[in-house]
Amino acid sequence: MDLSTSQEPIIDRTTGADLRIAMPELSRRYEQDTEWCVVYLDGQWQEIRFHDYRQIYAVEGLYEHLFYDILECRSPNVLAASFEDQLRRAGTAPDDLRVLDLGAGNGIMGEKLVELGVDFVVGVDILPEACRAARRDRPGVYRAYHVVDMSDLPPSVQEALSQGRLNTLTCVAALGFNDIPPDCFTTAFNLICDSGWVVFTIKDDFLSDVDTTGFARLISDAVENGVLELLWIERYPHRLATDRTPLRYTGVIGRKRGDLPAG
Ligand SMILES: C[S@@+](CC[C@H](N)C(=O)[O-])C[C@H]1O[C@@H](n2cnc3c(N)ncnc32)[C@H](O)[C@@H]1O
Repeated sequence: MDLSTSQEPIIDRTTGADLRIAMPELSRRYEQDTEWCVVYLDGQWQEIRFHDYRQIYAVEGLYEHLFYDILECRSPNVLAASFEDQLRRAGTAPDDLRVLDLGAGNGIMGEKLVELGVDFVVGVDILPEACRAARRDRPGVYRAYHVVDMSDLPPSVQEALSQGRLNTLTCVAALGFNDIPPDCFTTAFNLICDSGWVVFTIKDDFLSDVDTTGFARLISDAVENGVLELLWIERYPHRLATDRTPLRYTGVIGRKRGDLPAG
């Protein structure tokens, strides 16, 4: 199935359809981490940067309406469908998975995993607003949700995650920019047991020769050194930019075969 052109619904339910959102002129192109819109909130129009997740999660339905209804984000759907396919090929039952969802946000990927039949998902996000939004929007999806910077884990959370017998890492739309840096991904990766599943998306540029985030080197070394066995890798349109051109990401699914070297 060509997921990048699939006509399946992008997200099953949205709650923000009544929100009034105005987008920049189509003729203007912004860098992905400077994109913005204006939203009518509390009786006035307010400018919101797309990467200001704190503000976006605070408004129920805004994340879904902006990124899914208007900008047609498809990363969780693409990854969940391919992951389901890989699990089937490997003969792995979804209810054997114990997932760490890194950069969990308000729980869209967690919800997709639960729909696949996974019943143990732990979320981690740096923002308390993300945790509150996940509980508000998708109660019951996460067994636990830790509000921590994955690059600087408090010992109690490190202990809880280590005890969790985690065998799957998911990280969707959260690597690079000012979000999750390579050392943070390394910490999460190393919490997963050997032979565990690794499922992530990343902007194409961050896997290319021009990458400055450190992810291109991290992933290519991991594959070359046998730490990550690649099973599926595909470019697909993650979402539209405000000028309606597609932002291309790469989805990766693999098996962990060893630890990544700590930074
Ligand atoms: C674009 S959102 C993606 C949320 C979710 N995975 C989804 O697909 O809807 C990126 C998330 O990464 C989180 N994040 C950024 N840096 C982080 C860090 N160092 N540790 C944990 N989470 C982080 C942000 O707070 C944000 O919720």
